[in-house]
Amino acid sequence: RTTGAVDYYELDERAAEAEVLPGLRTPIWGYGGTFPGPTIEARSGRPIVVKLVNRLGEPTVLHLHGGHTPAESDGFPTDLVAPGAAREYAYPLRQRAATLWYHDHRMDRTGPQVWRGLAGMFLVRDEEEAALPLPGGERDLPLLICDRSFAADGTLLYPGLEGRPGVREAYMGGVLGDVILVNGAPWPELRVARARYRLRLCNASNARTYELATGGPMIQIGTDGGLLAAPRTVKAIRLAPGERADVVVDFSAYELGRRVELRNLAGEGAQGRVMRFAVDRDEADDSAVPARLATVEALDPGRAAVTRDFEFSSGGLHGGTGWLINGRPFDPRRMEARPKLGDVEVWRLTSDVAHPVHLHLDQFQVVSVNGERRSGPPEWKDTVELRDAQTVEIVTRFTDYRGRYVLHCHNLEHEDMAMMAAFEVV
Ligand code: C2O
Ligand code: CU
Ligand code: CU
Repeated sequence: RTTGAVDYYELDERAAEAEVLPGLRTPIWGYGGTFPGPTIEARSGRPIVVKLVNRLGEPTVLHLHGGHTPAESDGFPTDLVAPGAAREYAYPLRQRAATLWYHDHRMDRTGPQVWRGLAGMFLVRDEEEAALPLPGGERDLPLLICDRSFAADGTLLYPGLEGRPGVREAYMGGVLGDVILVNGAPWPELRVARARYRLRLCNASNARTYELATGGPMIQIGTDGGLLAAPRTVKAIRLAPGERADVVVDFSAYELGRRVELRNLAGEGAQGRVMRFAVDRDEADDSAVPARLATVEALDPGRAAVTRDFEFSSGGLHGGTGWLINGRPFDPRRMEARPKLGDVEVWRLTSDVAHPVHLHLDQFQVVSVNGERRSGPPEWKDTVELRDAQTVEIVTRFTDYRGRYVLHCHNLEHEDMAMMAAFEVV
């Protein structure tokens, strides 16, 4: 629905059934009753209001991941929408074109609520991107990738969901599923023309990291924060939970009748199977991947007003309370940092074991990994994978909005076990 210059969406969260596995009924919680929720398409600079209606029996919180959003609409983990209640979230979308996604963000319960289906994709387009000859229309594919486990009757299995035994060890590392789903379907097959396609890969899994590959070349054109300055050819795309990558695959490189498999090289058996493309027709294709894609401003870490440290550690493994940042579990009332509006800051993130770290409000750029300066043109990210015992420095600028936001591990079970820090832009 459109009113004036604002696009208006209503997302009803409700319990429903979906046929995820052939012939079986899986109870889900879905935005609009579907899993994943509807893909929302938006334009940079054109505000959107999303009315969330909670028809579930539990409180929820809506968050637009990668969105440059005022604090009151960002989905702070304690800004709950009670069962039966509704609220409006305003997204001004003063940000570049990018592949975003939305999902539940309730404190302590994000993992199980997203697992049940509360996630969907959100595409922001802009004029800079529209002027490029990239594949579009039916050849621009949002692919929300997540893993799930099922009981024999099709019910979702999650440690601790009612009627299921809690498995503390499985839970501590983050919950992994044994079936990979793309847009809610296992190992789906899509018929494609011998033409270029844009795949917007989004890792919406609770805890699984993928290494995605087709066996042939892929051209990466974008990351969490939108287009790269220039395309790069890659053999595989590594995606930790929360991360996105935009790639172009040229199916004209394959003969008719060929089946191209998108596989997860980091998984074996069923966990290696993501989706298939059946090349079944010839079609005109006037798309191209230009050698220059976008202007990407470089943030200068030398201009940082301050450098802050955030240490991600597993203090909770030894009888403590969970996963910690700077030795403390998440407390929504305690601000771990108060950056000034407009300031550039460097945040130094260190890990014990791997954690995908996500920052709300603004995209950032990676400055260094283990002290080694990152080379190459700058790129915008909102989630970065810290590998075991790594130090990653990021630089960001706090722009436009004051208020409370969070930095957290996007392994959703780690997040629920308090690996989150609140900060306030002042
Ligand atoms: Cu995708 Cu704070 O979340
Ligand atoms: Cu986010
Ligand atoms: Cu973690």
